[in-house]
Amino acid sequence: MMLKENLQGLDSFAANVKEALGNAIEQEPASLSLEIPREESHGEFAVACFQMAQAEGTDPPTVAKRLAKEIEIPGVTAEAVGPFLNFKVDSEILAQTVLEGALTSKYGKGEEHAATVLEFSSPNIAKPMHVGHLRSTVIGAALARILMRLGHRVTRINHLGDWGSQFGKLVAAWNNWGNEKSFLESPINHLLELYVRFHEEETDNPDLKDQAKEAFSELETEEDGETRQLWQRFTEASLQEFEQIYNRLGVSFEHIRGESWYENQLESLVEWLDSCGVLEESEGAQIIDLTEQGIDTPCLVKTAHGTTLYATRDLAAARSRWKEFSFDHSLYVVGSEQNLHFRQFKAALSRCGEAWAEKIEHIPFGLIRMAGGKLSTREGKVLLLSEVLDRACELAAETIAEKNPDLPDRESVAEKIGLGAVIFHDLKHQRQKDVVFDWKEVLSFEGDTGPYLQYTHARCCSILRKANSPSISSAEVDSSLLSDSKELMVALGRYPGALREAGRKREPSALAQSLLRIASAGNAFYRDKRVLGCGDENLEYARLAAVTALRNVLADGLHLLGVPAPEEM
Ligand code: ARG
Repeated sequence: MMLKENLQGLDSFAANVKEALGNAIEQEPASLSLEIPREESHGEFAVACFQMAQAEGTDPPTVAKRLAKEIEIPGVTAEAVGPFLNFKVDSEILAQTVLEGALTSKYGKGEEHAATVLEFSSPNIAKPMHVGHLRSTVIGAALARILMRLGHRVTRINHLGDWGSQFGKLVAAWNNWGNEKSFLESPINHLLELYVRFHEEETDNPDLKDQAKEAFSELETEEDGETRQLWQRFTEASLQEFEQIYNRLGVSFEHIRGESWYENQLESLVEWLDSCGVLEESEGAQIIDLTEQGIDTPCLVKTAHGTTLYATRDLAAARSRWKEFSFDHSLYVVGSEQNLHFRQFKAALSRCGEAWAEKIEHIPFGLIRMAGGKLSTREGKVLLLSEVLDRACELAAETIAEKNPDLPDRESVAEKIGLGAVIFHDLKHQRQKDVVFDWKEVLSFEGDTGPYLQYTHARCCSILRKANSPSISSAEVDSSLLSDSKELMVALGRYPGALREAGRKREPSALAQSLLRIASAGNAFYRDKRVLGCGDENLEYARLAAVTALRNVLADGLHLLGVPAPEEM
């Protein structure tokens, strides 16, 4: 068997198919793309012969028939079905290949050597994290793990929103209504109250707005004043609360650098922009015109008051990251409502002649919607992330109490199931789509959910515990005994490809969906086939190997997504 090096699972067969097909029609194999047939009986890959037929001046079925006869691929049969050429991988060889991969820790590992900066989460301080922040955090953390697995050197950055005019508002609100006792009791709640009150009162009280502007310029100019100390306190209290959530979700960063981290680079940034000749004055403000880049709204660099803006800090951050990390990719996991902002600052850098601006990539995602519409802290209508996580874990605990009351370590398992449910629900959707947050759906233990995957994994663990067998070696498996388990082997065989797709498209849902197919094939496998005590030692060994592969891949995929995988539940 000749399999392409470094390619695993079905990828290696796909490469052989492309090569044979490319030779037969005299085309570069890399330029060919294979489809995945919908019908299982149509094999693992297919290609439509319309273009080839056109090139040869005949009809597609004729081409398909000719190629089916001509092409020879080890372990794969080519079959013409109408205008399509279908490829079927031999079950036994497939099982052998999949086990060889999935019984090692290398399965799905890639060699995409790249330096990748990945910014995600980036909540605003002095406000609680709401479920809207969940998406950036969960998508970003999963992407980081996926890209690392594929071979990237990933630097994770949390770009906290800790700077900007809103802190002027908060300071003004504090100076008017701040209450030391309430702050000490529950810092973020109190800050949120102040923030909400500011927005309620500012319309009728223009003086408040002035106070806020003044406070922010103080923050920007005075290194050590009272305002700065206040801001410091707010930041520290917020970070403490965020850390709790990150710990719970198993999320970490190489750098937590708020917008304020770039503060002392802002002046030289503005000078640099000026020296590039891109700054213009408009009604007292400094802007960068982007009409030639096809963007109607200019990028605002400085307000008429001389204060900097969100975009100014992003320009500084992008440049600083380039200097520090010489990245191949600089990714930003930020909601799609900021599309324009990212187009603007990227275009501004391009206008300055910075070729590396092309390596900046905004990874947008849709909103989380509740029955009441978009979530906003301004109106104070928030669904807090910590509350969501608590509630999910409570409900998981109730289910365990009902279904498996004797489970050891119930509380910790409930936490894992609750968190897993929330995280997986987020990641199974294509990231650009809006997600409707519906308690019932999120916490359902059946259907396409995290708990369903966790349960499938725990089920494998339980079989393997009972088998009490030493570690399984793929070399000792008689894979002909697994010829009847093709659906499972195909699902497992697509895992490395799904992982690469998830990385390439920055789309954890590709991995999540692959796991769902694997779990469904896995459930069918042990529903239909007896594993332990099936009467034949070799057969039992082969089936245990399949269950081990299933358990490994589920554990690995869940880990990459950030979903805990308890061994019992
Ligand atoms: N703090 C911002 C927010 O919550 C997100 C920051 C996104 N990152 C960036 N580099 N602009 O909306």
